Amino acid sequence: MDKLIIEGGAKLKGEVTVSGAKNAVLPILAATLLTDEPCEIRGVPNLRDTTSMLKLLRSLGKAVEFDKGRVIVAAGKTSSYIAEYKLVSTMRASFCVLGPLLGKFKKAKVSLPGGCVIGVRPVDLHLKGIKALGADICIEAGYVVATAKKLRGSYIYLGGVYGSSVLATDNVMMAAVLASGKTIIESAACEPEVVDLAEFLIKMGAKIKGYGTPVIEIEGVKHLHGATHLIIPDRIEAGTLILASLITEGDVLIKNVRYAHLGSLMDKLSEAGANVTHAESSLRVKGNRRLKSINLTTLPYPGFPTDMQAQMMSLMAVTRGISVITEKIYPDRFMHVSELNRMGAHIQREGPHAIVEGIKRLSGAPVMASDLRASAGLVLAGLAASGKTSVSRIYHLERGYELIEQKLINLGAKVWREKE
Ligand code: UD1
Repeated sequence: MDKLIIEGGAKLKGEVTVSGAKNAVLPILAATLLTDEPCEIRGVPNLRDTTSMLKLLRSLGKAVEFDKGRVIVAAGKTSSYIAEYKLVSTMRASFCVLGPLLGKFKKAKVSLPGGCVIGVRPVDLHLKGIKALGADICIEAGYVVATAKKLRGSYIYLGGVYGSSVLATDNVMMAAVLASGKTIIESAACEPEVVDLAEFLIKMGAKIKGYGTPVIEIEGVKHLHGATHLIIPDRIEAGTLILASLITEGDVLIKNVRYAHLGSLMDKLSEAGANVTHAESSLRVKGNRRLKSINLTTLPYPGFPTDMQAQMMSLMAVTRGISVITEKIYPDRFMHVSELNRMGAHIQREGPHAIVEGIKRLSGAPVMASDLRASAGLVLAGLAASGKTSVSRIYHLERGYELIEQKLINLGAKVWREKE
């Protein structure tokens, strides 16, 4: 296992290009199971999660090649409807093969993904949606077994205790495209990654309206064909790089961004007094003074993303005043709090709130990454801290950030890898 060593204090300077969105590419790769025709997906980030999804597609009979950001799924039948535990357990997004397998075969056996450190993460909404389309569902030895004589379009209310669900919306949408008749998903997730999936499905011949709003309408079709698609830029990577520039008081040009996907983050940064300007597909971030504290609450899109909460907490840890960060998607997603406090931060957790009292400077320390976004938050803290920080269990970071070390080094950060 590797750990990342960061010698803090370097101001990031230069240009960096954001990779394709992890959370868009994973369901889009799953959607290729809906056709036997070839598909080509471009702008694919080389991530541990991408590799896991490609392995899963291969195990389901697809011939898949991945080279220089391009995935080619060759023509050929999807030959299995069973997604095995050892492949699904490494990554929750694997569960979104359920919808396409059921759509294609009218039966699917997919391992339950299980919980993870950021919380319980149930799949009740996925199952509710699939059931509404006419599937019978049972749980057998840790697997969801779904069968249907025929999938029929239906009205489905998909809101849960914490609001809409991204992967449940993806799963139900993918099952409904080949169902007979009309499906209406109400309280659908509006995330840009759901929109990207809908656009890919439409290129394959699906009939979908209303995506990007809470009401999605799907008119089932008999057959889907192959398609080519370019993945949208990763808004969470873009956000993380913006905060890396701000926290180091750097000056960075960030390319390949969709400004429209960053609304809630930009609003909070403007409230904090950050200097971020944008052109058509790039952003310039100049971090030249200490920012003001802000309060924020994570919410489904277009609210503030839970996937930026840890990184924002690191920034607020070195910002004047007191910030209150409220987590409304995963109330237990606070593993980074104690690690940041080991670096001298003053953060107190009160239920779903973290009260952050900004200090002038963090000090480097050995810390442990617990999940993908927590590790990103700790790396940002390390970049701003005095002295050396070592972030262990850095494999979490590799799940979601393509070439992140190299990107930071190119911007002047002093970062290297060591064996644990
Ligand atoms: C996706 C993202 C993840 C992000 C999350 C929230 C992918 C691959 N991952 O995960 O990076 O952090 O959205 O923006 O796109 N819930 C239920 N029942 C369900 C499903 C979800 O109660 O059946 C709850 C979850 O526990 C959570 C909330 O709904 O509290 C939102 O989760 P959801 O949007 O489903 O997250 P994912 O799609 O798994």
